[in-house]
Amino acid sequence: MIFKWKDKFKTGIEEVDNQHKRLFDIGSELYNLVSLDDGSDHYDEIIALLTELSDYTKYHFGYEEELMEKFNYADINSHKKEHQKFIDKLNETLAKDIDMNQKQVVLDMIEFIINWVSRHIVGTDFKYIGTIQN
Ligand SMILES: [Fe+2]
Ligand SMILES: [Fe+2]
Repeated sequence: MIFKWKDKFKTGIEEVDNQHKRLFDIGSELYNLVSLDDGSDHYDEIIALLTELSDYTKYHFGYEEELMEKFNYADINSHKKEHQKFIDKLNETLAKDIDMNQKQVVLDMIEFIINWVSRHIVGTDFKYIGTIQN
């Protein structure tokens, strides 16, 4: 499975779109790495990428929240709450011992993250488009 950023995710706010694309890129790199069947375990690389995905997600949320503040976006609080809930979920997931023998667990986790991000972009990020200018 490949996670690809699609035109339907486009907000028209260039920096936001670039950051969303980066999230999909990290997710897909991670998915490919976990799916590799080359006989060696890529545990360290996988953990490094998972950490990168989590850090970049937090960075992106912070960026959006600053933008929403700057433009006095009315629904900022519920948007921030959604971000926070997801960060909690991410932290919780990353705190678990990841056993690389359970490949499927890691694959499911990445799928969950990318699905959440996709839904959040279309369902929640899209609502600020009219308020935030490039
Ligand atoms: Fe976003
Ligand atoms: Fe958001």
